[in-house]
Amino acid sequence: MPRILSGVQPTGQLHLGNWAGAIRQFVELQQPGNEVFVFVASYHALTTLRDPAVLRDNCRQVVTDYLAFGLDPARTTIYLQHDVPEVTELHWLLSCVCPNHLMDKAVSYKDKLNKGLSANIGLYCYPILQAADILGPQADIVPVGRDQVQHIEITRDLAGMFNHAFSCEVFRQPAYRLSATAEVLPGVDGEKMSKSYGNTIDPFQDEKALRKRVMGIKTDSKGMDDAKDPATCPVFRIAKGVAGADDPRIIDLERKYREPPAGGFGYGHAKQALFEILLDVFAESRRRRAELMADPGAVDACLRDGAQRARAVISQTVAAARAATGLSA
Ligand code: AMP
Ligand code: TRP
Repeated sequence: MPRILSGVQPTGQLHLGNWAGAIRQFVELQQPGNEVFVFVASYHALTTLRDPAVLRDNCRQVVTDYLAFGLDPARTTIYLQHDVPEVTELHWLLSCVCPNHLMDKAVSYKDKLNKGLSANIGLYCYPILQAADILGPQADIVPVGRDQVQHIEITRDLAGMFNHAFSCEVFRQPAYRLSATAEVLPGVDGEKMSKSYGNTIDPFQDEKALRKRVMGIKTDSKGMDDAKDPATCPVFRIAKGVAGADDPRIIDLERKYREPPAGGFGYGHAKQALFEILLDVFAESRRRRAELMADPGAVDACLRDGAQRARAVISQTVAAARAATGLSA
């Protein structure tokens, strides 16, 4: 039975990019025959977060949003990374077989420093901790956005290096999985949608604020009667990323971009269409989220159960890894 594992850092409100690149896949993969683990990468968030109240709130909010987006605790093991402290032991065991050059080549570290984050060893070794997350539950498949591919490749390298160093077969090699529309979703300014760029769209905002956010998406200055290029327009790209290229609303929108109908078709119309798509696609999630916000016990129960299930599986792997190194018989 294939094991699927993924996670998101609790560094801020989840956004459409997280959903399109990652969370939508988690929900799709919850099928009979798959064993799915989805966690909140709280240790990873400590590489950058320095406010305990914010970290605590974010952890809960990510779980609430996972459930709202359709993750089902009866089918998926949902847990907080720090509820399974064995992950940090695995991180250490992997660190000891990790050559420095493997971290030196990680682009995420350089990207983060370029964005102005302070350097620290946690940030530098971030990919080793991610490898521990993935190898702990012996995941076969890791659904992620394109920016995470290098981390999965590093995980494969580390699994092989550990097995080779200790002449064992403790770890299996995971593969990444990109969403069918593997595009990186742009934000309201046309750059990659990212918490750290302040350009995100939160599908859970109230209708008025959501509409305002959509109406503020940057476009060029083409008029109502001008032909427009959908491929370079963030309004169209977000709509397509959310609804899918085959959706009749997207086909219609693309036609209107290329050949505005009599009477014209402007970016205001396109934004209204996107707003309606968002309300439609996320109607159920928005309703569920409102319910969950009023029922904190549901989140607590999900996390208690998830921690227990995850810990049982991960501690088995850690025991095997310890034994391979000679730390235990
Ligand atoms: P992060 O917000 O960087 O912790 O990302 C969590 C997950 O969402 C990762 O799998 C990312 O690849 C994915 N992701 C984040 N931003 C985007 C985006 N703009 N488009 C597609 N996927 C994204
Ligand atoms: N690095 C991932 C991100 O920024 C989050 C993450 C941590 C993760 N550990 C993981 C994703 C294990 C997949 C598997 O999005």
